[in-house]
Amino acid sequence: MNSEYDVIVLGTGLKECILSGILSVEGRKVLHLDRNNYYGAESASMSPLESLYTLFGETLEGEKYGRGRDWNVDLITKFLMAHGRLTKLLIHSDVTRYLEFKQIEGSYVYKKGGNVYKVPASDKEALASSLMGIFEKRRFRNFLIWAQSLNFQDPKTFQGVDPEKTTMTEVYKKFGLDSNTAAFTGHAIALYLDDGYLEKPCADAIKRIKLYYDSLSSYGKSPYLYPLYGLGEFPQGFARLSAVYGGTYMLDKPVEELVMENGAVVGVKSGGEVAKAKCVICDPSYCSDKVKKVGQVVRAICILKHPVAKAGNSSSFQTIIPANQTDRKSDIYVCLLSNLNQVSAKDFYLGSVSTLVETNNPEAELKIGLDLLSPIEHKFISVKDIFEPTDDGKASKIFISKSYDATSHFETTCDDIVDMYFRITGSKFDFEKIKLNLDEAKKQ
Ligand SMILES: *[C@@H]1O[C@H](CO)[C@@H](O)[C@H](O)[C@H]1NC(C)=O
Ligand SMILES: *[C@@H]1O[C@H](CO)[C@@H](O)[C@H](O)[C@H]1NC(C)=O
Repeated sequence: MNSEYDVIVLGTGLKECILSGILSVEGRKVLHLDRNNYYGAESASMSPLESLYTLFGETLEGEKYGRGRDWNVDLITKFLMAHGRLTKLLIHSDVTRYLEFKQIEGSYVYKKGGNVYKVPASDKEALASSLMGIFEKRRFRNFLIWAQSLNFQDPKTFQGVDPEKTTMTEVYKKFGLDSNTAAFTGHAIALYLDDGYLEKPCADAIKRIKLYYDSLSSYGKSPYLYPLYGLGEFPQGFARLSAVYGGTYMLDKPVEELVMENGAVVGVKSGGEVAKAKCVICDPSYCSDKVKKVGQVVRAICILKHPVAKAGNSSSFQTIIPANQTDRKSDIYVCLLSNLNQVSAKDFYLGSVSTLVETNNPEAELKIGLDLLSPIEHKFISVKDIFEPTDDGKASKIFISKSYDATSHFETTCDDIVDMYFRITGSKFDFEKIKLNLDEAKKQ
């Protein structure tokens, strides 16, 4: 700890580990500390199952849910888009050599009335789907074929739409799509959190729809991937990677103070010693005087003994419940995983439900998602504050991540990582330079 570092990272949450990994690979000298004696901070995976019970102040008796060590329970479950930015960041940082991914079996969307429907995986599947009526699905198929074949370099493929000017509302109108189809396209395919995109130029939405279908095309069943043994594999992989690049990870290190000089951080005091650094990256819990609360997220972790029949009994899936299909303002996210993902004991399933808190009875807000998973053997409910930094870090050299939101995919996580990378380094992360896909990167 006694030398001088380019960067000291506090907390081993996913965002901190990814930034620390990228900066190490790019040649920075990194010291990474966590006050906890386990990896992952807010986004840890708990193993064995007993440790999850302990975290929630409960006791697990016997082996009623199989062997405790077969469980790896994410406190925050998220899936990667196969060709998405997180996958690219992982490939760039070279951590993929320590990780094995498995495809998620299904991608579903909820429709008013209580049923879930498979998000059509192709224009052919759109025609066979019961998600839409007979005429609507033909219109949706035309829209999908148009979006997939649109080439931003070739105006001949635009068919009267200007991607930089035409709004998404106008695009839906052009194809005659109704508000239900718009809700599921915007929220379960383009993964928007609200409807602000409708009145913006459609280029961003089209890119997101293309990303969904490009990701799907290489794996087939869903565009989502998830690491074997859970998201806790990320911090562990990054810790191993860090050693290769001369960095240091240390757990169980209390942080007493961020040492400041003339308004800028110059080091971190831990266990009475000061390690010097040019900048600090941390999660909000290490800098409570430089963050503000912007909301709350409620999450349920659920132990099940069965797959979900409404979701085709898939061994893993994501379901998005668009706010528009309920009487809510924010979407609800539901995930299911099984022992095939090495996160539960044999014959058990691990479910999660999350959303942004809108009322003073947060658990009740999860009802539609919990009903989908029921009967539930045991559930753990948590309500967490969401913090955002009040300081962009330019002067203080302290770069603070945002708390994790309710989404069950990594799109907003990546927005924050990429924004922090820009503030830290002064240059935009160039995704174009990552030429390999995941399979190619793993073969190297
Ligand atoms: C799902 O599993 C249940 C119970 O085994 C079975 O009755 C049902 O037919 C299955 N549904 C599908 C779509 O496979
Ligand atoms: C979804 O929102 C649109 C307006 O954005 C509204 O016209 C429509 O009725 C809503 N659909 C449902 C099912 O609530």
